[in-house]
Amino acid sequence: MSDISTDVLIIGTGPAGSATGALLSSYGIKNMAINRYRWLAHTPRAHITNQRTMEVLRDLGRDVEDEAYLFAAHQDLMGENVFCTSLTGEEIGRMKSWGTSPHSKAEHLLSSPTLMNDLPQTFMEPLLFKTACSRGTQARLSTEYVSHVQDDEGVTTTCLDRLTGKEFTVRSKYLIGADGSNSRVAEHAGLTYGGKMGLGGSINILFKADLSKYVAHRPSVLYWVVQPGADVGGIGMGLVRMVRPWNEWLIVWGYDINKPAPDVDTAFATKVVRDLVGDQELEVEIEQVSTWTVNNMYAENVSNGRVYCMGDAIHRHPPSNGLGSNTSIQDAFNLAWKLAYVLKGNAGEKLLDSYQAERAPVAKQIVTRANKSIEEFGPIFKALGLLDSIDPVKMQSNMDARCDPNEAGEAQRRAIREAIAGKVYEFDAHGVEMNQRYKSGAIQTDGQPEPAFEEDAELHFQQTTWPGARVPHAWVYSTDGGKVSTLDLTGHGKFTVLTGLRGQDWVAAAATVGKELGIEIAVHIIGPRQKWQDLAGDWARSSEIEENGAVLVRPDHHVAWRAREMPGNPEAELRRALKDVLALA
Ligand code: FDA
Repeated sequence: MSDISTDVLIIGTGPAGSATGALLSSYGIKNMAINRYRWLAHTPRAHITNQRTMEVLRDLGRDVEDEAYLFAAHQDLMGENVFCTSLTGEEIGRMKSWGTSPHSKAEHLLSSPTLMNDLPQTFMEPLLFKTACSRGTQARLSTEYVSHVQDDEGVTTTCLDRLTGKEFTVRSKYLIGADGSNSRVAEHAGLTYGGKMGLGGSINILFKADLSKYVAHRPSVLYWVVQPGADVGGIGMGLVRMVRPWNEWLIVWGYDINKPAPDVDTAFATKVVRDLVGDQELEVEIEQVSTWTVNNMYAENVSNGRVYCMGDAIHRHPPSNGLGSNTSIQDAFNLAWKLAYVLKGNAGEKLLDSYQAERAPVAKQIVTRANKSIEEFGPIFKALGLLDSIDPVKMQSNMDARCDPNEAGEAQRRAIREAIAGKVYEFDAHGVEMNQRYKSGAIQTDGQPEPAFEEDAELHFQQTTWPGARVPHAWVYSTDGGKVSTLDLTGHGKFTVLTGLRGQDWVAAAATVGKELGIEIAVHIIGPRQKWQDLAGDWARSSEIEENGAVLVRPDHHVAWRAREMPGNPEAELRRALKDVLALA
């Protein structure tokens, strides 16, 4: 007999675990979350918060979304992305990043009702955790996962109360391993991984210093400093990352992975800060120093029986592209509604298999992308002449040659421009962030061909109602002056049918099928004199259906199925599609 019982036990209250708790509690599912520490993230860690993650927060409630914006550095402060010899030294180049170039900004605005922003993990975690606990999650801090055993009905997990030193057991129907990159849950569940850990070594130096006069005129989250000879392998590139504008910062500096992680003292940390800033008199308050390794690992199987893993437990990669906590929160959005439907008896257990089919490819994709982004600094180093020699004097003179008023100088300037522009795949990869199209048993394509990407799929988000894709965002308007996104009409734990004025028959079909399956299916008829009108024509342009067709959207905003036009028997078609999606067939 276990000491405690719950429906879902979540190990970890990082972005993945806290988001899962918040979502499950919002869906009315009993859940408990434990964290081995006495509180949440104490260093800023992940920070770039992309639109897809903001859509999850918006789905949790406008209050949750608004609180994120309240504490975040706004998108306008994120994007100059400077390459320089120090913050006081010469600027080599810059690129507009994170949706701040005019073209990219338009794409962001057309894609989502939300805005990208910079929200350090020290703000994101408490927001998600608070949302989870206030909605019903039973949280226990200073509580460590020890082991688990599972049987046909559930999982028995042994936990250690770190305050009393006593072990206790929790019986749950499902166990979630959201316990980060050294996941013991994943290890005990026997998950297998592709890729490698420990490919490079990095030192994080968290510090306070007022750098306004060096950066406020070129606001950015990231300042890349190249100082030949200053570090590992001679290249000496450091990253100065804004934590709070413009007085709290984090420097990332390399160490040789072939040697043990260095013991970084305050004197060394202060020297690195002053060198990269380029001000030897700078008043610096070192707050924390830590080391970490660059990883390139993704789980090939993300679950085993009743145990599901998510977040860094299934994708371990460098911070490039800012995908860490974003993908973790999005894993939670994918799994939580499925667990809720199965636990409420509204779906067959096989629905949960779609988590593997849908998220394992994403894990591999983002780990691969983040590591490729590191390699893509190579062309910048090459263009600067930093790969020809390890002699710092020669490297400096190679770099200086870019200022020569001759043809060789012009060629070097062009090469530098092109190399910096190539970093768009790290700093403005909207497609990587938004283009996930799922293929699984929880998606019914009815054999319709997948629309090809018209532009580079890593850089540009392409909206479509092709089943598996995230439903297109379009603003629709009410007669009293209000407007909502099509994303606002969907989600919130429900399936939704979006249709047009000639689609009235879907209302009765959804009511009948919903009653039969014991679920609520929302229907929105978008058109004149309806609650929501397509005044700007954006929905008509993006829906890819006739006015009497239907787009059936899952609780996580992804299209489950669509009918281009009204079928002979809409009720039968909707029933068939939903039963397939929910593994009830
Ligand atoms: P996360 O690691 O955040 O949380 C794991 C949770 O599990 C914690 O609550 C932990 O206490 C708990 N836990 C672990 N073992 C347990 C056990 N046995 N029992 C109970 N609880 C247990 N990403 C990025 O995109 N940009 C960045 O700049 C950075 N920078 C960065 C710096 C540092 C120092 C780190 C460690 C990480 C980053 N990251 C990052 C990565 C980012 O922080 C990461 O992707 C997310 O936090 C992943 O969220 P998860 O919830 O999956 O794990």
